Formats: sequence, structure tokens, C-alpha cells
Amino acid sequence: MENVYSAIKVTENVYWVGAIDWGIRDFHGYTTPEGSTYNAYLIMADDVTLIDTVKSPFKDEMLSRIKSVIDPAKIKYIISNHSEMDHSGCLTEAIDLIKPDKVFASAIGVKTLRELYHNQHEIIAVKDGETLSLGNMNLTFMETRMIHWPDSMFTYLAEEELLFSQDAFGMHLATLERFDDELSESVLEFEAATYYANIVLPYSAIVLKTLEKVAATGWKIKIIAPDHGPIWRKNLGWIIELYKKWAAQKPANKAVVIYATMWHSTEKMARAISEALAEAGVRTSILSMNHFHRSQAAYEVLEAGALVVGTSTLNNNMLPQMADTMTYLKGLKPANLIGAAFGSFGWSGEGVRDLEAILKEMKVEIAAPALSIRNAPNKGALEICQELGKTIAAELKNKLASS
Ligand code: FEO
Repeated sequence: MENVYSAIKVTENVYWVGAIDWGIRDFHGYTTPEGSTYNAYLIMADDVTLIDTVKSPFKDEMLSRIKSVIDPAKIKYIISNHSEMDHSGCLTEAIDLIKPDKVFASAIGVKTLRELYHNQHEIIAVKDGETLSLGNMNLTFMETRMIHWPDSMFTYLAEEELLFSQDAFGMHLATLERFDDELSESVLEFEAATYYANIVLPYSAIVLKTLEKVAATGWKIKIIAPDHGPIWRKNLGWIIELYKKWAAQKPANKAVVIYATMWHSTEKMARAISEALAEAGVRTSILSMNHFHRSQAAYEVLEAGALVVGTSTLNNNMLPQMADTMTYLKGLKPANLIGAAFGSFGWSGEGVRDLEAILKEMKVEIAAPALSIRNAPNKGALEICQELGKTIAAELKNKLASS
């Protein structure tokens, strides 16, 4: 059955021809309750060019949008800015259908696409800084290795002052709005921050260098077109400043208390610690991993100064929800945090010890020794938890004063 999806005009000569995934709820471990989009772009230059493709099941939606502008057979070039499968999943089929003259990717992209799809299509490697003439327009490529895969690159379209930024500046948000000025700033900031925390955070040092590299090109940029979520045509300066702030990872006057509990004893401890932190003037978020998702924890940690983690002990280990969350957070490499571990136990208590060990592996500065309480905390034990909260608050204030 024919689809009737239409392209959306981005500039005089550029169209959005991507796909909207209303149903996706998990993106390699990152929960996406608002779905996502896979953005592909059609440049109507003398040599018609397609920037990126979409996830495999959405190929027909992309082709339908392209057909609303031009016969896909007229596409001369396809550029793969990023080889992850949400953008290259239908590349092989698209090449077979469209039969472009040439397909381009970064050198590592060429290798990665070969290893992912094992096909015989020729893909030409472009170099950092290389320019490709489209006749009346020009594309310039910039490698952005490890934002967030080794193959990643930006493509700049000078004549439209438009930067195709692949995953950078993206967000997982399925909407019918295609531009940032059609959405509220609170939605944009929350979704962009959640995306940064869950995808880009480990590469923050590279983000800062890349922003400097882009600035040094002197490129005029009036539009940033990422591979997910809205296209930035109004709030470019704002999102770039947010990226600089998130990448700098400066400690903030905020604590995140993350715990899992068996019979509510560790929960009582978490609440006593959290309320003491808040009373000491620290903005405090408390997340029970019995109910929250690991990617919500990542979002909360993005702009924090203290990470306080708690668990009951189950079969000589931390609770599995905390093992999951800590593995995930450790991989995201949040920096410049102080922290502490706490929890209740019945007879052995390894969970809290192991949590503290992970904090140390994460290079979290230990603000106070781990606090373990046998069975249920009484009033005296909860007062000790309050003291822990006060100690962490004082240590955080010292860190903020010296940073
Ligand atoms: Fe949207 Fe790294 O793929």
C-alpha cells in the first residue's frame, strides 16, 4: 500500500524526509517514553543529495516523504553522517532502490558500515575538512569522532548556513512539530538534557573541543539539523550554551539520592538523608529505583554535585535495581561529584560496601564513610542518617566554594 507521508520544508532547498517512531520505548537501555524521530534530509541541489537514512522498518515512510518532492531515482549522492542503525538501518535497501552515483561516509564510517551490513556497495571515505560540490551548493565534512561513535561526522551546507549534526543536539521526542520554535523551552530543555545525559555525557571533553572546532571554522550557522527531534532554527545559541554547560560538568548545589529497598528500611534511611540535605539548603532529588528508570537517574545526575546511593543487601549483593543503575551511571562517566553509600542489611551487608566501591571506581569523592544499619532503623539510626545528610551538604558547600 502506498504511503502518503510528505516532506517538510526546512529551507528553500532542504527538506526533512525522516520518520516518526511513536512507539519506541527503549533505546539501548535509555527509556524513551515520548518516542523518537529519525531525521533524514533531502538537499535539492543540482546534484540532489540525501543526508542519512532512517531505521530499517521506516524505509517506506522516508521514501514516501522523498517522493512528495522528487523521484528518489534522481538522488545522486547519499551521505552517512553516522552509521548507528537508527540512521543506516535502511541504507543498503535505499542504495539498491535509489541507485545513487556515490555514497559517502567518514573513513571509520565506511569501515563500520561494511562490518554492520557486509554488502558490496562502494562507499567513499571523505576526510575531515573535505568539500563536496553539489553543483550550485557545497558540503563540507567535519569528523566528530566519539560524538558519540568513532565514525560520527557533521556535514555543513554553506549556501543554506545549515549544519547537519547527526546525534548532537538531538532528543528522543516524537512530535508533528519539526522546529524548536514550535515547542516550549521547558520541553526542549528537558528532552535535550535527558538525551545529553544518556547518550553524550561520556564524551563531554570531546564536545567542548568540537564546539571550539566548529567556532574556529567561521561557518555561519542559522540552522542545526540533528538526526533526532526538532530542527533548531531559533534557539541555536541557547542549545549550544546548554551543551557547553553540560559538557563542563561543574558541580551544582544539588544532591541526587538514588536507592532500592526490600522492606522499606533503606527507604527510611534515604528519606532521612534527603530531608537533611534539603534542610541544609541543597536541592535534592530522591529516586527509588524500585519505581524509576535508570535513564531518569542519569538525567538527575547531569546537573548535580552529590550522588548518594543506597541499597538493601540481597544474597550478599546489592539489589539488582541498584546494580543495573550503577553499571549504567558508571558508563556515563559523570564527573566532579562527591557522594556516599548507605543501606540496611539483615546479616551480612555486602551491598553497601559494593556500592561504595563503585562510587570510588566512578571517581566520586567519598564525603563520608558508608552507613550500614542492621534491619530496620530506629529513631537513633535515623538521626545518624540525618547527620550523614548534613555532612554531605557541608562537604558539597566546601566543594562549591573552592570550585
Ligand atoms: Fe541516533 Fe547514535 O544514533
